[in-house]
Amino acid sequence: MISLKRYQLVFATANANKISEINAILMFTPVTVVSMADIGCTDDIPETQPTIQGNAIQKAEYLHQKYQVDCFSEDSGLEIDALKGEPGVHSAYYAGNRDAQQNMNLVLTKLGRKRKRTARFRTVIALILDGKQHLFEGICEGTIRLKPSGTGGFGYDPIFQPNGFDKTFGELPAETKNRISHRAKAVQQLYDFLQVL
Ligand code: IMP
Repeated sequence: MISLKRYQLVFATANANKISEINAILMFTPVTVVSMADIGCTDDIPETQPTIQGNAIQKAEYLHQKYQVDCFSEDSGLEIDALKGEPGVHSAYYAGNRDAQQNMNLVLTKLGRKRKRTARFRTVIALILDGKQHLFEGICEGTIRLKPSGTGGFGYDPIFQPNGFDKTFGELPAETKNRISHRAKAVQQLYDFLQVL
């Protein structure tokens, strides 16, 4: 028998673009994504954990505990091997304030001319559905360039070259990034899980 049950999931983000983007992706699943504002939540949810996964779980648990809703959250960051996984969970504020240029400069200064430049973007999605937690992870492996190149994307895109390409995320078309990115891979896993509910 075909199940007609629909699920409403609250996305733990203040970014309205992310809500409409994910609703478009999840169109053919039994899920509708709503914002925190839709449930009357304007809280600045704490992100105080030492790992990307920890922060994703913290945000989803916060909403679930306070509002008893099905919900999910997403957290991402860049991990550079020669910097022992930095900036990692500190990616957004690595140089002190949310400035992408300063963050990239700090990474390039710390790396100097080190030959080992392997890195990865990681996204973790934490879903809480019917009180059960599910984690989905997307990883995009690559290397850090010696200097920025390209103006596309955001954050560390101009210094990150994904494996298999000779261009940075800042130079590649958005469609290419959106196909191979850490975020795309994590969302695809969430999609696969929700589609068979
Ligand atoms: P968020 O958890 O998605 O807000 O990501 C945290 C930080 O990681 C961002 O502020 C960026 O500095 C960095 N970041 C995450 N995803 C990307 C990406 O796709 N390109 C470049 N930087 C990213």
